[in-house]
Amino acid sequence: MKGLILSGGKGTRLYPLTYTRAKQLMPVANKPVLFRVIEAIRDAGISEIGIILGDTGPELREAVGNGDRWGVRITYIPQSAPLGLAHAVKTAQPFIGEDRFVTFLGDNVIQGGISSLISDFANHTEWSSQIVLTKVENPQQYGVAILGEDGRISQLVEKPKQYISDLALVGVYMFDHHIFEAADAIKPSWRNELEITDAIQWLVENGFNVYPHVHKGWWIDTGKPNDMLRANSYVLEELTPALRGTIDDKSSVDARVTVEAGAEIINSVIRGPAIIGEHTRIVNSYVGPFTSIYHHCTIENCEIEYSIVLENSTVRDVDARILDSLIGRNVEIGRAPARPKALKLTLADNSKLGIQ
Ligand code: DAU
Repeated sequence: MKGLILSGGKGTRLYPLTYTRAKQLMPVANKPVLFRVIEAIRDAGISEIGIILGDTGPELREAVGNGDRWGVRITYIPQSAPLGLAHAVKTAQPFIGEDRFVTFLGDNVIQGGISSLISDFANHTEWSSQIVLTKVENPQQYGVAILGEDGRISQLVEKPKQYISDLALVGVYMFDHHIFEAADAIKPSWRNELEITDAIQWLVENGFNVYPHVHKGWWIDTGKPNDMLRANSYVLEELTPALRGTIDDKSSVDARVTVEAGAEIINSVIRGPAIIGEHTRIVNSYVGPFTSIYHHCTIENCEIEYSIVLENSTVRDVDARILDSLIGRNVEIGRAPARPKALKLTLADNSKLGIQ
């Protein structure tokens, strides 16, 4: 089997963070989501992986390289434009050939990996496709499936306006080569995309065997800032803690905390689950649960909880506790001179700032 990761698209829902970075490279628990996807596919025993690229292609290629780091071979497949997931899959046809393959959305994180799904699909050569479903509270934001009484799929609809089912399509799909025929047969949707949901519906209608698997653990499509924070908290819960940096004797660090190499914790309290990145300094501060501070940051004289801070950022001398926040790269948050008493802001387009 081969693996196909879809990392084209625009990432508009994560603006402003994705103005300057591919959304698939946003880290959860200090590791880019795309790296987690590559590891999930590799751990399922697949070593030939294609990655669909869009405008952020150069950045993704530089970050991922040839796959040696994970012991896999990466083939990059540029997509002409973000014309939909079925269009992206069709673009990969020369790479896939006649092989069976797993398609994984490059911005999704799923609990428990995909090894058992892959072996199920490999053992059932009569299945043309296997899709993964899970119950969600907001089905109108996803592709959804209606299952018949026999547990088989009776209908699939992309982002239904009216409620028809709360079983969403998780961003992991197994296919054989018939999906290419399906992608050729369908028409663009109202959002002018060739929808993978419509292509799978075509397989169902044309008598191909599409098998549903209902996933019981957590799954997150990291499309929006709150989803990133949620994914971060779930992954942190499951991280095996490690202390590789230095912690002074005035600090207190929970058992569920990872302190990466070169990090320094000085006169501070870190409550887990949390991760402190390489060469980051935490000074006179409190870092609360579900927080990931990335590499080369400084957190000084402040309190931060349930948040993500990206690399090279500094947060210093903030009175209020920072909560539920996503702070980008090279950001500086600090105290302005005493007079005039005012906020001094340099915020990118679409930034959000909450002041009490
Ligand atoms: O996350 C699960 C959902 O993913 C499914 O429930 C939906 O049925 C499915 O259509 C998809 O919905 P989204 O609207 O969330 O997909 P999004 O545009 O965010 O794209 C998902 C990934 O695929 C993302 O990493 C970008 C990549 N992509 C997207 C498009 C439109 C491509 O590589 N090429 C594309 O043309």
